[in-house]
Amino acid sequence: MRALTWHGKHDVRMDTVPDPEIMNPRDAIIEVTSTAICGSDLHLFDGVIPGMMAGDILGHEFMGRVVDAGPGSTLKKGQRVVVPFVISCGKCFFCERAQFSACDNSNPAEKQDLSEPLYGHAMTGLFGYSHLTGGYPGGQAEYVRVPFSDVGPIVVPDGLDDDQVLFLSDILPTGWMAAKNADIEPGDTVAVWGCGPVGLFAIQSALLQGAGKVIAIDEYPGRLALAKGLGAEIIDFKRTHVREALMEMSGGLGPDAVIDAVGMESHGWAPDAIMDNIKQQVGIGADSAHALRQAIIAVRKGGRVSIPGVYGGYLDKFPLGALMEKGLQIRTGQTHVHKYLGELLHRIGEGEIDTTFLISHRLPLEDAVRGYENFRFNQNEWTKVVLKPGTEVRA
Ligand SMILES: NC(=O)c1ccc[n+]([C@@H]2O[C@H](COP(=O)([O-])OP(=O)(O)OC[C@H]3O[C@@H](n4cnc5c(N)ncnc54)[C@H](O)[C@@H]3O)[C@@H](O)[C@H]2O)c1
Ligand SMILES: [Zn+2]
Ligand SMILES: [Zn+2]
Repeated sequence: MRALTWHGKHDVRMDTVPDPEIMNPRDAIIEVTSTAICGSDLHLFDGVIPGMMAGDILGHEFMGRVVDAGPGSTLKKGQRVVVPFVISCGKCFFCERAQFSACDNSNPAEKQDLSEPLYGHAMTGLFGYSHLTGGYPGGQAEYVRVPFSDVGPIVVPDGLDDDQVLFLSDILPTGWMAAKNADIEPGDTVAVWGCGPVGLFAIQSALLQGAGKVIAIDEYPGRLALAKGLGAEIIDFKRTHVREALMEMSGGLGPDAVIDAVGMESHGWAPDAIMDNIKQQVGIGADSAHALRQAIIAVRKGGRVSIPGVYGGYLDKFPLGALMEKGLQIRTGQTHVHKYLGELLHRIGEGEIDTTFLISHRLPLEDAVRGYENFRFNQNEWTKVVLKPGTEVRA
């Protein structure tokens, strides 16, 4: 089959690779009809996540049709499913508590030594996301093997097209959980750093969850315009002093809650950002966290900090004093996708949530490399790329 594979920093390629096969009774094989490129994939593309090996198949946002199912799967051939990017067994201590992204059974034992020394505990399995998270082949491919297929995939009605439901695989629940983690009370002012797909869904979710005012921060006019279209007020961090603007826009208190939807590749020209970026480039620091520091400094006393943005290492210059002295709460994590699927699918079906507004480009899978390059280097115009296996590349 054809698949998008990782070969090094800024080097991804379309390759012909072996088709996946059922390995365990609970597996299913999905023929991918739509798959997307995520900001998390950019961290792999930029080479800032360890544990990648040449030839790894990328992609963790995908959906398709069931073409094979093991005897322990509950799926039937021909069903149309969206698959969560987090691989969860459904039965362990964590899955029973709906902490699906902490599942203890999906990262194979021989891979656990990679993340356990780094984090104290082994990470959960994720599709297409390095050998730290199990080394599973991802879904930017024609076919993919889905372990624990009786737990993760959600069957979607034929009345909803791929673009409406594809983002249930990751970014929609991620934006939703980011807002949940901000503990929004009616009328709250919520500031969101980053107007990529995750930030945009966090903005939409914060408003649905009762925020009175959402303030969106980014530097790209195209992305800020999408945020404004959702009803957010906007700050261009290249032109505006972010903390001063936020104080003014929140009646001098600071936002009640802040959401960091930027993650480990934050842009900026402040000394901390420059230091982080240099350390990241030379491989002695994983995280560039300027936006997170700014969010912690900006949030009001007693406020809430939600971090959907991905981080990987041991950050320095962390404003621990502000966190403690202001009495803040922090919540973060890879998304417990399975927990939110039913509710979000229902809201999509009812027309309460539109997921299609942020798709800027639909490309054939064969054009995936161009998709990566533009999603990385032309962020203003390329907000979200959906790849369609089986469609023709236009010259
Ligand atoms: N927690 C999860 O389960 C989960 C799931 C999906 C994605 N993520 C993470 O969420 C983050 C965002 O994902 P995305 O797909 O939206 O990525 P993206 O790269 O498309 O968007 C990031 C945005 O942040 C903006 N930005 C950069 N520096 C900034 C700064 N200093 N202040 C304000 N904005 C700034 C960029 O201009 C860009 O628009 C990534 O770290 C990704 O890995 C986490
Ligand atoms: Zn993703
Ligand atoms: Zn589990």
